[in-house]
Amino acid sequence: PLIPVILAGGKGERFWPLSRRQRPKQFLSLDGSGESLLQATAQRLLPLADNWNNLWVITAGPIADGVREQLPSLANHNLLVEPQGKDTAPAVAWTTLEIAKRYGKDAVIGFFPADHWIKNTDDFEKTLNAASQLASAEKAIVTLGIKPTYPSTGYGYIEQGELTDHFDNLPVYKVNRFTEKPDLETAKSFLETGQFSWNSGMFIFRVGVVLEELEKHAPQVLKPLQEKGQAAYEELEKTSIDYALMEKTELTYVLPANFGWDDLGDWNSLERLIDSDGDNVELGNHVTLDTKGAIIYSSDQQEVIATIGLEDVVIVRDKNVTLVVNKNRTQDIKKLLKELQNDS
Ligand code: GDD
Ligand code: MG
Repeated sequence: PLIPVILAGGKGERFWPLSRRQRPKQFLSLDGSGESLLQATAQRLLPLADNWNNLWVITAGPIADGVREQLPSLANHNLLVEPQGKDTAPAVAWTTLEIAKRYGKDAVIGFFPADHWIKNTDDFEKTLNAASQLASAEKAIVTLGIKPTYPSTGYGYIEQGELTDHFDNLPVYKVNRFTEKPDLETAKSFLETGQFSWNSGMFIFRVGVVLEELEKHAPQVLKPLQEKGQAAYEELEKTSIDYALMEKTELTYVLPANFGWDDLGDWNSLERLIDSDGDNVELGNHVTLDTKGAIIYSSDQQEVIATIGLEDVVIVRDKNVTLVVNKNRTQDIKKLLKELQNDS
């Protein structure tokens, strides 16, 4: 089996005001189903893990209680709580060290973001089974590649090399290079070649393989954690696994991921998540004359949001906050939050 680890320490600020400090994006149910992104992630990974004993979560101090509440079946010794968020490289390194103690160096583990949407669970499982087989057969860091649709600057890019093998009928390619969050020009040039896919943010490998690679390419992350455990966090620099390891290692493979994937980056992704037959995407009680292309979200169904003649706006009502933002400025919510913090 695979030991899945959910990376659940991020803030997801771009979903403010629905995401708040104690309630980050992974705790939200963005499709209105009532199941949070974190809960859906755990449910999707359980069949691969076999049972709750093999499922791990690493998260940050302030939201650890929220994780326990959301995943009551999660074993307490499978929940790692970071004293402070230092991005994903320390999270991956620390978890891998802990997992090595329990399962040994040959265990195959996988890291999964807590806040993604996946359409077809059966295909997802099939792809992950193939990825696990590859990781156990080869010295490999396995990634899942998403077919890119536009030159995004918010993703990692994977350049596909030669075809090496098949597992469960799925083709496996060696990766020539990995580039994290390129600028727009570079992203455009990548897309033109047709050889690049987006990095899905999921990584699968053997414990021993990744420890060796971290020692080689990111000793500044691994060593302090080896020596001091979580006490090392204070001195660690913030760095993501994509920069610290993926851009440097030569052991990367990619499997094309065809299960339907969305990383739900900001409010606009609701348009892809929710089928809407009208003019607007509405989660909440929206009454309108001639508003088009709007995304409306209210956490209280009793409240009415009334609009007339608007275009391309996002309106979100949650508790004491109402946000109205132009659809092409939703990235700037992070900036707005900084202003708000400075004011208070
Ligand atoms: N435990 C822990 N600690 N988890 C963290 C931390 C941390 O300090 N920082 C982030 N995470 C979690 C987030 O909650 C999320 O589930 C996952 O790690 C990835 O972090 P993001 O901050 O969302 O990364 P990203 O979206 O900018 O980029 C990554 O994902 C893209 C796909 O969505 C990269 O891997 C890209 O290459 C990739 O394309
Ligand atoms: Mg992300």
